[in-house]
Amino acid sequence: MQRKKLIAGNWKMNGLLSDSKKLAQEIATAVKSAKPSCDVLVCPPFVLLTTIKKALRGSKVMLGAQDCSMFEKGAHTGDVSPYQLKDAGCDFVILGHSERRADHKESSALVKAKAEAALNAGLKVIICVGETLAERESGKALEVVEKQVKASLANGANASNTVIAYEPVWAIGTGKTATPQDAEEVHAHIRNVLVQKCSKAIASRMKILYGGSMKPSNAAELLKEPDIDGGLIGGASLKSEDFLEIIRKAN
Ligand code: PGA
Repeated sequence: MQRKKLIAGNWKMNGLLSDSKKLAQEIATAVKSAKPSCDVLVCPPFVLLTTIKKALRGSKVMLGAQDCSMFEKGAHTGDVSPYQLKDAGCDFVILGHSERRADHKESSALVKAKAEAALNAGLKVIICVGETLAERESGKALEVVEKQVKASLANGANASNTVIAYEPVWAIGTGKTATPQDAEEVHAHIRNVLVQKCSKAIASRMKILYGGSMKPSNAAELLKEPDIDGGLIGGASLKSEDFLEIIRKAN
């Protein structure tokens, strides 16, 4: 099954107006002229979404947010509704990132509720899963990831509305990357879990991204694994030349 690759930048809590606008414009201009065969997505912080939407105008670079509420609207101070994200021009929302699971005690049940709200609002979701170092060292990586996938996916998840990102927690922002073989083992396992949870057809079409210190020097070998369908990139997505180099490697 040939799946179109997706290269997604997770800007996390980085960037002020002017440098972020410049970053988005550089990416948009390069993507417009290079016309890569992969899809490209950037996910800036909430307050930058409308500015970045404008900066991307005329390019095929998609826009995503990094979280959303499970509620549509109302008395939820500080939260942002998926309908507001859709209204701001978002195509995607990242949900269940390990930093949110850790910093905000987000459970897979909450991630699932958010995913269902996001799909109802017409957004696509990137559901993040991944084991900690202790879990990997005790041989539990596959088990942990399987549990997270089964409990976090929305009812109604399919290959057009849902992407999974496998991000081993020990590889995020640490410079340590899973070997292509270790990553592929988990990705292939996730695809088998999707066969059981969804269907064979959905499992064969759903994109599974790798995230965790992906950079120009390791992207090509990760992206050539059969079940790695793109990357969710943090640090290296904040420099246009690095992000654009990864996009080239995905071609
Ligand atoms: P990193 O972050 O590329 O900086 O490791 C990836 C992520 O957390 O999405």
